[in-house]
Amino acid sequence: MIIGSNLFYYKSVLSTNSLASGLLRKNELPEGSVIYTDFQSAGKGQQGNKWESEVGKNLLLSIILFPSSVSPEQQFLLTITLSLGICDFLERYLCGSKIKWPNDIYVKSDKIAGILIENSILEDTIENSIAGIGLNINQEKFPADIPNPVSLKMLTGTEYNTGSCIKELLTSLDERYKQLLYGDRNKLHGEYINRLYRFNEFQIYRSDNREFEGKIIDVSSSGLLVIQGKNGETRKFSFREIDFLL
Ligand code: BTN
Repeated sequence: MIIGSNLFYYKSVLSTNSLASGLLRKNELPEGSVIYTDFQSAGKGQQGNKWESEVGKNLLLSIILFPSSVSPEQQFLLTITLSLGICDFLERYLCGSKIKWPNDIYVKSDKIAGILIENSILEDTIENSIAGIGLNINQEKFPADIPNPVSLKMLTGTEYNTGSCIKELLTSLDERYKQLLYGDRNKLHGEYINRLYRFNEFQIYRSDNREFEGKIIDVSSSGLLVIQGKNGETRKFSFREIDFLL
C-alpha cells in the first residue's frame, strides 16, 4: 500500500492541506502519508473558496505524494487518478457517480466531493503533491450559499461509519495510484472521459460573457476541456475560461 501507509489523525486543524504543507517542509513524511481530521476551521476549496464541513460528519483528508514519474506537463494525470479513486469508492454504495470537469465529484446534478491538489514544481519535476479531498458522508444540512451539496447519507438514507469509509476510500485511491505509476495511462485517461458529467450531451456553457451550446467531446492531456459547438467547431478551455450553466 502506498496511499494510506501512514495515517495522521487530528481532532481539529485549520486545513489538512496547509498542515500537510507545513509538515512536508519540516519532516520527511513518506509517500502516501495521509493527514485527516474531524474538523477544519479554515478548510480550503478551489479558486480561493472555503470548504465547510460539520464536525465528524464527513471525510477531510490530504495525501502526500511524490509522483516523480509524472512530469509537470502530465500533472493532470493526478487529477484523473484521484477523481477515479473517489468514484470507485462511491460505486460501493451507489451507481453513476460522475466527474464534473476538472475534478468535482457529482451524483446526478449534486456535488458530493471536491479535490484540491497543490503541486510543488521544481524545474522539470513535481517535487511533491498535496492532494486534499473533502467527501460528504453523513452531513444532511449545508450552508445556504453552497450551490448543490449532497452526501452519501442524503442519497442512500443510511448513516455510515466514517472510520470504515476512510479505509475504503484509501484502498480505492491506492489502486488508482498504482495504475498511474505502473499501469496504462491511456486507459486511465479513457476511464476519466467515460465518467465525465455531461459527456457528449449538448448543454449550455458560458465563456467570455457569451453563452453557447456545445458538447464535451474530450479533455486534453494537459487538462483542457474540449467542447464541440453546434456548428462542429471545437474549442479548448482552461478552468477559468468556462462556466457550466443550469
Ligand atoms: C473544492 O473546492 O471542490 C475542493 C475542496 C477540497 C476540500 C478538501 S477538505 C481536505 C483538504 N483540506 C483543505 O483545506 N481542503 C481540502
